[in-house]
Amino acid sequence: MHALVVSGLTKVYEGSGRRVEAVRDLTFTVEAGELVCLVGPSGCGKTTLLKCMGGLLAPTGGEVLLAGRKVNGPPPGMAFVFQEYGRSLFPWKRVGENVELPLKQKNLSKARRRELVADALASVGLADAAGAYPWQLSGGMQQRVAIARALAYEPEVLLMDEPFAAVDAQTRADLEDLVRRLWRERGITILFVTHDIDEAVYLGERVIVLSASPTVVQEQLKVDLPDERDQLHTRVAPRFAELRTHVYEQIQAAKRGVPQDALTKSDTPPPR
Ligand SMILES: Nc1ncnc2c1ncn2[C@@H]1O[C@H](COP(=O)(O)OP(=O)(O)O)[C@@H](O)[C@H]1O
Ligand SMILES: [Mg+2]
Repeated sequence: MHALVVSGLTKVYEGSGRRVEAVRDLTFTVEAGELVCLVGPSGCGKTTLLKCMGGLLAPTGGEVLLAGRKVNGPPPGMAFVFQEYGRSLFPWKRVGENVELPLKQKNLSKARRRELVADALASVGLADAAGAYPWQLSGGMQQRVAIARALAYEPEVLLMDEPFAAVDAQTRADLEDLVRRLWRERGITILFVTHDIDEAVYLGERVIVLSASPTVVQEQLKVDLPDERDQLHTRVAPRFAELRTHVYEQIQAAKRGVPQDALTKSDTPPPR
C-alpha cells in the first residue's frame, strides 16, 4: 500500500465574485519512508495542495488517501511544518510547552510526553532551549522548534511547506542537512515543498515537478545521488548539475505549457 495517494485532486477557490482554479489535476503517490520534494513556481498551488493533503482544506474534486484511508480532516499520524515559523509557535509559551502541545491530544502519560519533548529537542540540537520563549531565539532556531514539535508527535507522514524560505542561506543549509538526517534516522515519510530547484534536488529521493497554476504534475524524477549527501560535495557533483538543469528546463517548459513528452531529451540525460 502507498503511504500517500493523491488522485485527480482539483481545487477551485470561489468567493467575492472571483474564481481561482489553483490546482487542476494532480495525481501522484508517495511510498512509506520516502523523502519526496515537490517543486513548482510561486503561486502554483503548492500550499493549496498540502492543505488538501493535511485535511485543512476540502478539495473541489479528487481525493487524498493516507495509508489507504480517505483524508476528510486533519488525520492523526500527520504533522506539518509551515513556512512562517513566526506564526506557528505560541510566543507566550515556552519552547518545551510549544513542542508538547500537540501531544496533549494523544493519550500519553505526562512522563512519556516529557520524554518525547526532550528527545525531539535534542534531535534538533536544542536540548537546552526548552525553557526559552520562541521570541528569544533566532529564526533558524524557531524553525528547529517547529520541526521538534512535529517530530515529538511521532508522525508517519511529515508535510513541510517551504519551511526554510525565510531563513538565511547558511542556516538553510544546516536545516536541510537536519531534515535529511532526521529522515534517515527516523524513517518518516516526508513530503517537502519548495520553489527552490537546488533544494529539491539536494534533499529529495524523488522530485515531483509541478506546472504553473492551474497545476498538474509536469514530471517525476528519481534523484540518483548517493544517500550520503553534504553541502560541499553534493552540490558540485556533475550529476547534481545535470539533475538541476533538467528540473529547471521542465519548469520552464511548464511555464510555456509544453507537456513533458514534447521535450527533446538530447541535451539532458534521462533519469537513470
Ligand atoms: N484562500 C484563497 N482564496 C482565493 N485564492 C487563493 C486562496 N489561497 C490561494 N489562492 C490562489 O491559489 C493559487 C495557488 O496559491 P498557493 O497554493 O498559495 O500557491 P504556492 O504555495 O505554490 O505559492 C494562487 O493563485 C493564489 O492566489
Ligand atoms: Mg505556498
